[in-house]
Amino acid sequence: MRAVIAGSGSCIAPKLVTNDMLARIMDTSDEWIRERTGVEQRYFVEKGTSTTDLAEGAARRALEAAGLTGADLDAIVFATMTPDHFFPGCGGLLQHRLGMRPGPCFDIRQQCSGFIYGLELADLHIRAGKARTVLLVGAEVHSGFMPWREGSWARLDGQVDAPLAEGEWEVNTRTRHLSVLFGDAAAAVVLTAADAGDRGVIDAMLFADGAEADKLCVPGVGFRHRPYVNEGQLARAEFVPVMDGRHVFRMATTRMAEAAQAILARNGLAVGDVRMVLMHQANRRINEYVQKALGLPEDKVIHNIQKYANTTAGTIPLLWDECVREGRVRPGDLVLMVAFGAGMTLGAALVRA
Ligand code: ACO
Repeated sequence: MRAVIAGSGSCIAPKLVTNDMLARIMDTSDEWIRERTGVEQRYFVEKGTSTTDLAEGAARRALEAAGLTGADLDAIVFATMTPDHFFPGCGGLLQHRLGMRPGPCFDIRQQCSGFIYGLELADLHIRAGKARTVLLVGAEVHSGFMPWREGSWARLDGQVDAPLAEGEWEVNTRTRHLSVLFGDAAAAVVLTAADAGDRGVIDAMLFADGAEADKLCVPGVGFRHRPYVNEGQLARAEFVPVMDGRHVFRMATTRMAEAAQAILARNGLAVGDVRMVLMHQANRRINEYVQKALGLPEDKVIHNIQKYANTTAGTIPLLWDECVREGRVRPGDLVLMVAFGAGMTLGAALVRA
């Protein structure tokens, strides 16, 4: 018995923001962002839209593609680092909206590796006979991380001369190495139990190493503080993640290549056996390094960071959905997924479509 991906769906936030538009609110340029990251644009939600809202859109499309409804689900795994609330988690909120009967709903927080962690969790439930149909979602509304105030958002909305508050440009510029990287989106897959030969989730390998956790984290708010959020933290924009970009870059390139090689070796497979490699989309240059290290030809690699930026838990299911809908991945094709992110977390998975 294996977990087979029976359907997938995506939901992209509606507000398109190009690199040039970001240059209205901070000292940056299209050239810098494009060259250093590969990002050309990203989408943000309207104020008030939550991660669960995007996840619901993606989940409904995934269920439709699988020919199922929410009533058919036995469990939900919801991967996000930008939940609607500190608690309760998004899983239960989504369960209610989709009309799934009361059942297990997991919220998992492995950031960019969240989808692969979720895939392992869903697959193990199915293999153990504890669920036959599981919805796995990767969804993020990163715009809440941005320190941008009303004037900045107005400029992004087209009021290019909207006044900025005192110090707003400086704060926006101080956090530019991070804020330009992210976008809002959700994607989901429905996994069903099947005796379908060698189709389905073949293997997953997961790793976490907390030793480097401070290289990418949100140290400024949370329950180490009393109260866990206060005006001083907000004024200092301490809700924005901090990142040692160069260090994370180096770790991502080496660890993603190692994880990919390890899972192929464990399954007696080689790069030549794989139809597509879906890599987390944090920086196009990271993925080009990994591509080179693995000796991957161009037609086995897909990027969508140029369109959506980094959507954290959403990147890999977005790529999957895109590949399936465009016919780049067909039933029987072997797909390798690999991701590295905050934590530090790392995961690789092999799935036969
Ligand atoms: N626009 C213009 N200039 C900028 C910007 C910007 N948006 N951001 C930084 N700069 C400037 C810096 O101030 C610096 O200027 P200086 O030389 O005058 O001091 C210069 O550009 C170089 O800055 P670096 O930070 O060294 O630039 P780098 O080439 O390392 O690129 C980046 C930064 C894009 C963040 C890169 O390090 C990276 O992608 N790191 C990995 C990110 C990642 O993988 N994250 C994990 C996933 S996310 C998650 O898990 C939640």
